[in-house]
Amino acid sequence: MGYRVVVVGATGNVGREMLNILAERQFPVDEIAVLASRRSLGTEVSFGDKTLKTQDLDTFDFTGWDMALFAVGSAATKDYAPKAAAAGCVVIDNSSLYRYDPEIPLIVPECNPQAIHDYKNKNIIANPNCSTAQMVVALKPLHDRAKIKRVVVSTYQSVSGAGKEGMDELWDQTKAVYNPINEVAPKKFQKQIAFNVIPHIDVFMEDGSTKEEWKMVVETKKIVDPSIKVTATCVRVPVFVGHSESVNIEFEEFLDEDEARDILREAPGVMVIDKREAGGYVTPVECVGDFATFISRIRQDSTVENGLNLWCVADNLRKGAALNAVQIAELLGREVLKKG
Ligand SMILES: NC(=O)c1ccc[n+]([C@@H]2O[C@H](COP(=O)([O-])OP(=O)(O)OC[C@H]3O[C@@H](n4cnc5c(N)ncnc54)[C@H](OP(=O)(O)O)[C@@H]3O)[C@@H](O)[C@H]2O)c1
Repeated sequence: MGYRVVVVGATGNVGREMLNILAERQFPVDEIAVLASRRSLGTEVSFGDKTLKTQDLDTFDFTGWDMALFAVGSAATKDYAPKAAAAGCVVIDNSSLYRYDPEIPLIVPECNPQAIHDYKNKNIIANPNCSTAQMVVALKPLHDRAKIKRVVVSTYQSVSGAGKEGMDELWDQTKAVYNPINEVAPKKFQKQIAFNVIPHIDVFMEDGSTKEEWKMVVETKKIVDPSIKVTATCVRVPVFVGHSESVNIEFEEFLDEDEARDILREAPGVMVIDKREAGGYVTPVECVGDFATFISRIRQDSTVENGLNLWCVADNLRKGAALNAVQIAELLGREVLKKG
């Protein structure tokens, strides 16, 4: 006996990837419903070798469904996730709405699987921000060995992190650079994204940082350890899929780069590709469609007492969103619901 699963936002970037991953990982599904807005009623989406028709979230009854994987924005989540949770369906949410609620667990299964039992508080589990998810997978095993004091991270985030409209804007603007008659003004992004980089993701906060940067700080503390200090600069780059991060880590204890490489080689969810030669590292184009978080360029930072630098790349639609949500569903099944 398997699960009755709902995918909410099934026509979007993350929702489609959730369906792919549920099928790829042979998640024990007895029945699956795919939901989106009324605009998409009847739109067909793929699930393995099946084609499913989307239903309207607004009129869907969640009673009797085991879990709902939400991949709609915060506004729609606010309207519908509490209804699903109240109907007894466990919500695994990709938006930022519930991540900072102390009663709601924020989970990366490689880092804090024990938090799963707190799902009972509100019948809701939160999935972290894409840039946090891939970073903490690398930080946690290093923190367990040498205790991290401080992290300085700069991100290079792909346009798919801004949904399907973000991908369309890069595509259309890139074509328009070659054919200026069809100039495309910035809409989803604040400035031209084609052949450019933009140091601004999400809204500005009072202290001059952006909310995306703030999310990396707060979520790392909630998932790994509240004592870790994080400072982030988040940048949008003209890459379709795959986020990259340059991460500088300061530890309490000395950690040799070779030992760090060995620890990361053994760490769940991590793949180390680190040859000190041309091409001996991973770039976002190569990580697309993969489950792993790739770590390259591991090296000592001799400018601080116990410092390391590394390069971290992952498919933001997978580890950064859909894969992590499906891993949470697997964890929930294994530890709590125990069907399948
Ligand atoms: N992309 C990433 O890397 C990433 C990473 C982590 C978290 N997330 C989060 O995941 C969520 C989805 O992101 P995405 O990139 O998949 O966005 P997207 O490609 O723009 O897709 C949005 C989905 O939400 C549906 N939707 C929007 N408003 C709705 C409403 N009022 N009622 C029902 N359905 C509605 C859309 O349905 P229609 O097609 O009918 O409009 C579509 O299926 C967001 O909360 C985002 O912040 C994204």
